[in-house]
Amino acid sequence: MHTASTTTLFTPLTLPNGRVLKNRIIKSAMSDSLGDGQGNPTLAQMRLYERWAEGGLAASIIGEVQGDPRYPEKPGNLILDDNADKSAFRQLARQGSTNGAQLWLQLGHAGALAHLPISKPKGPSEIEFPDFRSEAMSLAEIQAVPDCFAKTALRAAELGFGGVQIHAAHGFLLSQFLSPLFNHRTDAYGGSIEARMRLLIETVETVRALVPSDFVMAVKLNATDQLDGGLAEEDSLKVVAELEGRGVDLLDISGGTYFPGASSSSERASIGPYFVDFARAARHITSIPLMATGGFKRQEEAEAAVHSGTVDAVGLARGFVLDPSLPATWQTDKSAPLFPRFATLPPGGMTAWFTMRMTDLGEEREGQVDREIGEALAEYEIRDAQRVGIWRRRSSGQ
Ligand SMILES: Cc1cc2nc3c(=O)[nH]c(=O)nc-3n(C[C@H](O)[C@H](O)[C@H](O)COP(=O)(O)O)c2cc1C
Repeated sequence: MHTASTTTLFTPLTLPNGRVLKNRIIKSAMSDSLGDGQGNPTLAQMRLYERWAEGGLAASIIGEVQGDPRYPEKPGNLILDDNADKSAFRQLARQGSTNGAQLWLQLGHAGALAHLPISKPKGPSEIEFPDFRSEAMSLAEIQAVPDCFAKTALRAAELGFGGVQIHAAHGFLLSQFLSPLFNHRTDAYGGSIEARMRLLIETVETVRALVPSDFVMAVKLNATDQLDGGLAEEDSLKVVAELEGRGVDLLDISGGTYFPGASSSSERASIGPYFVDFARAARHITSIPLMATGGFKRQEEAEAAVHSGTVDAVGLARGFVLDPSLPATWQTDKSAPLFPRFATLPPGGMTAWFTMRMTDLGEEREGQVDREIGEALAEYEIRDAQRVGIWRRRSSGQ
């Protein structure tokens, strides 16, 4: 039931598992690159999530937390496996859940997009492009994925996090399986959309079966890959329908991929919000609470999406990097975060600029640094290269 007339951005939301979000504003998943290179949280990262919690949001989601250290998206990802520093993760959960906020982990597996210097990328099918290659996963490797996600989710619950988001968007592993462009399998995991979504559905079911009932399980899904031959809206709506009744507490709608040369939401400078029309279509076929992420800047846009009943919550990424207290701001003067204007936009530059600004927030020096996009990209790449060295020493046991 949606009460369009009375629901505002600051109305609490009760999720299907009974958990209550204090309002409708969520910091969507971002890979903050603030792991220590060994997969453990840093002090700057703890402070970053604490600041977001202090700023009044309902929940924030840490991007790309890996259960399997072999397929990270970046060397700054967190790894929540049996070797994780549990007390650091507990501290992160505690600091990020102050002020009634929830802190969720986005469970990732980069698949074919795993960071090349520290992994041997594997996805649904073999891919061979000049600047990008991936092996095909064996059936046994595919069948191990749901269990790995579920064990990681259970660790998150035990360490004090409020929930997880299963990452099935943006061209990473589960999204690769959904995409006819990257999934050419002829077994039970490829072919029709019913087969391409099998791994996601199995993962959702296995996670839900293992975690406590009041632990939030969200899913992030692409409305479309925005790639010729990729996942199209018609098929994505079939996935939405199939997720119904499987214990999903929140469905986050996004789009695009991070394949070289493709379009991604975090690199877009165009006016949003981007996926509200798809959410409207999804609303007709599911009772799962919906969240749309991408392109929200102004309070009025976010308010309209929620007030109209199109979505139950809005997700913002870059807006929260510019103003970590965005909900508090919106409750008072309603001003929109000031987005930087870049004269040039090299590939990956926007994401790098926002990532470096997250470090500034965690180190509480955001007013003191003023980077051009090229400088941000250079700093980001140098830091990743340093972390690659640390990561390699970790995996070789030194
Ligand atoms: C620096 C940065 C890192 C991101 N990392 C992730 C990620 O790890 N997982 C994810 O699902 N989306 C990630 N995104 C995408 C955002 O969640 C969001 O979908 C996108 O930025 C569009 O929302 P916005 O217009 O509010 O920024 C990232 C975005 C940025 C800017």
